Amino acid sequence: MSGIVIRRPRSARDFAGYYQTRWYTLRRPWHQPKGSERDGLEKVAVHLMAVEGRRVVGVARMHLSGPDVAQFRYMGVERRFRHRGIAQRLLRALEREARKRCVRIAWFNAREPAVPFYERCGYSVFDTSYTLYGCIPHWKMFKEL
Ligand SMILES: CC(C)(COP(=O)(O)OP(=O)(O)OC[C@H]1O[C@@H](n2cnc3c(N)ncnc32)[C@H](O)[C@@H]1OP(=O)(O)O)[C@@H](O)C(=O)NCCC(=O)NCCS
Repeated sequence: MSGIVIRRPRSARDFAGYYQTRWYTLRRPWHQPKGSERDGLEKVAVHLMAVEGRRVVGVARMHLSGPDVAQFRYMGVERRFRHRGIAQRLLRALEREARKRCVRIAWFNAREPAVPFYERCGYSVFDTSYTLYGCIPHWKMFKEL
């Protein structure tokens, strides 16, 4: 996986690329407008991105949803960079960030097609969740860190 670096966005340019990739991988395929890739927790959340040079090719985010509980959100990898272990690296990096903050449990709403990937990373389904845009079923998954 040479050439791909996982790091936190720092500059305005980093964040522009970060949100662009989040929108491109998670919202554009469902014809959602720019801005729909953000929520009210961006300022308090921990953001991570996978970069090749200056290009942001993958993104993920974590926020605390309880004193020792973290929710992960917005995991997306550009199509032509998939199946190279980038999401797995992003997930491990999120877990490290969570452990630093004394998080014991990480959870998220997983899109159904991604559930087997997360299971291979040690996560378990614990409940059903919402269906996004009327066509993407989600499952609640968790792992004890
Ligand atoms: C789900 C998603 C984030 C996975 O990203 P990814 O970078 O391809 O994930 P990884 O490469 O770490 O692992 C995915 C697969 O590649 C395989 N893989 C990992 N490294 C590999 C390598 N070096 N060579 C070949 N395959 C590899 C893994 O075994 C895994 O297998 P799977 O396809 O059967 O699940 C990506 O498909 C995506 O962005 N999808 C659209 C948005 C989305 O659904 N996001 C999740 C929201 S919950």
